[in-house]
Amino acid sequence: TKPLRLGIAGLGTVGVGVVRMLRKNADLLKTRTGRPLVITAVSARSQKDRGVSLSDYAWEDDPVKLATRDDVDVFVELMGGADGPAKAATEAALKAGKDVVTANKAMLAEHGHTLANLAEDGGQVLRFEAAVAGGIPVIKALTEGLAGNEITRVMGVMNGSCNYILTRMQSAGLTYEEVFAEADGLGYLEADPQLDVGGIDAAHKLALLSSIAFGTQVKFDGVALEGIERVSIEDIRQAADMGYRIKLLGVAQMTARGLEQSMSPCLVPETSPLGQLEGGTNMVVLEGADVGQIVLRGAGAGEGPTASAVLSDIIDIARGLRLPTFGQPADSLKTVPAAQSTVP
Ligand code: HSE
Repeated sequence: TKPLRLGIAGLGTVGVGVVRMLRKNADLLKTRTGRPLVITAVSARSQKDRGVSLSDYAWEDDPVKLATRDDVDVFVELMGGADGPAKAATEAALKAGKDVVTANKAMLAEHGHTLANLAEDGGQVLRFEAAVAGGIPVIKALTEGLAGNEITRVMGVMNGSCNYILTRMQSAGLTYEEVFAEADGLGYLEADPQLDVGGIDAAHKLALLSSIAFGTQVKFDGVALEGIERVSIEDIRQAADMGYRIKLLGVAQMTARGLEQSMSPCLVPETSPLGQLEGGTNMVVLEGADVGQIVLRGAGAGEGPTASAVLSDIIDIARGLRLPTFGQPADSLKTVPAAQSTVP
């Protein structure tokens, strides 16, 4: 059987994790998909030592060249960034007839439907399980496990860094500024911490999930957004006195007025699953008209968890599963007005 040939662009934590997992699990992946999964070429900003041997793979400095190589079937985009090289290479790959797997929530939240249309036009597949809640298979839960249900609500804590800050303020009685400095020192925050504490990263993920759940166009600026910068230790104490915790909670639900999406600090009962969620983890709550409520909890970031999600998409493609993730033809998707949290 023909091997599935992968070109990986971006060798940070996630890219290196994918290389390691493909090697470590080569035999079981071949058994599960019926064909070898092989990396043919890689690309990154520099050829520095990453603690993993890359000598078996061709090297490309330019991700667009990597994405369009004849010996690449699937372009695996792990560079990040909404625009720039990640978007250029993803477009080039789709136009060249390659399937694409990406972990890039910012790119998809801004350009998801343009890219999905491009993929659909050429019969390519665009997959992004790793873009939402890291290792939690939430996209596959929606598109496969709950595919028979009308989805009524999607909720969750989708940024581990913010959850770390809020739970640590609570447990250690420290101020926002103190815990922010601590989290930054531990490397828990994005290179631009505003993406985390401003709620932007979490809102990117919610916009993707709600568009899959409700069949709407991905609309990041349709999320009513408030970050955690103004949550004070007094707020947290008062909430605790009343039996609540404060969480940066995303909620997307279909109402009589349309789809409402919000990402903001919310009170949740401390005895509820969301209230019990500690540290740098994620929790996604899905509600279907027939299945009821499903709670998924796990690591939303990190090498192993995120690589695990990337692998799940590569495996789908190796198995020949080619349904579009957004679930319906892009031209039938409802459009949404900008800068509103209510979508008619
Ligand atoms: N900073 C993000 C988080 C990384 O903490 O969830 C994963 O998107």
